[in-house]
Order: sequence, then structure tokens, then C-alpha cells
Amino acid sequence: MIIVVSSRSGGVGKSTTAQHLAAYLAQRRGAGSVALVDADNNETCLDWAARGDGQRFEVLSSEADGLDQYDHLIIDTAAAPDSGELGGLLAEADLLLIPTTPSAADLSPAIATHQGLEADGVEALFLLTLCAPRPSKRAEQTLQAMRSAELPVLSQSITRRECYLDAISTGQHVGQLKGISASKSWEEWKALGREVFKRRL
Ligand SMILES: Nc1ncnc2c1ncn2[C@@H]1O[C@H](COP(=O)(O)OP(=O)(O)OP(=O)(O)O)[C@@H](O)[C@H]1O
Ligand SMILES: [Mg+2]
Repeated sequence: MIIVVSSRSGGVGKSTTAQHLAAYLAQRRGAGSVALVDADNNETCLDWAARGDGQRFEVLSSEADGLDQYDHLIIDTAAAPDSGELGGLLAEADLLLIPTTPSAADLSPAIATHQGLEADGVEALFLLTLCAPRPSKRAEQTLQAMRSAELPVLSQSITRRECYLDAISTGQHVGQLKGISASKSWEEWKALGREVFKRRL
């Protein structure tokens, strides 16, 4: 499968989503079958991998040779990628994931990303990221509003937690970190992975 993670918005968790979905797939299907592809000139995922001591899966530039040897590619893109470049990635893709926070400032560009790509015929799913922890109901309310608007949104959302700052600085995913906050976070990614890959693997 080829999954592209993209949105016009910056800082909405695209790279974090790509890293954690790749980690989920590596755990489930074997590290050798998965590559995380960094198609952002900022090289967020390549830098993240370089800070870690040996990821369980390859993290490669989109220019790398041999990408076709992997069963699964998770492709991280820049915010507001060049439409020709994104079109090229989506031509080969099975699924587009569009992360967005529950803020209207991010939702509007996320919906615009979706509308702009409908013509390409690739299946797209929204994912709510950086959601305030309970007791905030904002994520749940946003999910309901998106469903009412018939936007294809995943049921599992991702909570904002400090452990992501440790994950980014140590080149790990939250499933590799100790502590309750990290383990709760990894449970969210596993549930999200099950939801995304149900009937797709
Ligand atoms: N659930 C979360 N809780 C707390 N911090 C998070 C969470 N998800 C992402 N972050 C942090 O928010 C910042 C932005 O996340 P990320 O780099 O994944 O976004 P992005 O959409 O890829 O950004 P860009 O548009 O710059 O590529 C990072 O510092 C990341 O560690
Ligand atoms: Mg990024």
C-alpha cells in the first residue's frame, strides 16, 4: 500500500502521523516491509530518524532508489506541497490521509485539500490530531460536525501530549517511550492503525 500524508496546513501533525503509522505497520507486518518516505524538503522525518539509534523501519528520501521493493510506503509531504508534485505522489497512492487539528483555522485548509483532490479519485480520510485531552469535548464535537457534513473522518483521534516532544527529540515513536502518557498515546496509534488498515491489508 502507498499512503500519502498531506495537508495545506503546516504543523498539524503530518510528519508525526507518518512516523507513527509506519511504526504501527512495522510492528504488524515486519520492519522490512515498510519504508517511511520523506518528501518534504525540510527533511523532518529524515532528521528524526537520524536522532534515533536505529529505527525498526527504513526512513528514506523520496529520491532514494529501490522504493518499489517495499510492500508499504508511508509518504510524508511538506505543508501546501506543489500541486504537480502532490499529483505525482497521489497517482501511485492507495490512500490520502489529511491530518487536521479541531481548530477552524486548520479545518478549512484540510477541507480545501480534500476538495482539490477529489478529481484525482484517490480515497481520502481526515484524522483529528493535537486534540486537547479530556475533559475537553472539542474533538468529539468536531468529529460529529465533520460526519454531519459527510466528510470521511477516522473515529480515532490523537490527543495532544508532552511525550511527543520527547519522541521528536530522541528520534523515537511514542511506543518506544516509557510512561503512562506515552503508552496511552501509542494505544491511540494502534487503534488508528487498526481503523485505517481494516480491510486494506
Ligand atoms: N499529539 C501531539 N501532541 C503533542 N505534540 C504533537 C502532537 N503531534 C505533533 N506534535 C508536535 O507538533 C509539532 C508539529 O508536528 P508535525 O511536525 O508532525 O507537523 P507537520 O504537519 O508535519 O508540520 P510541517 O507542516 O511543518 O511539516 C511537532 O513539534 C510535533 O512533535
Ligand atoms: Mg512535517
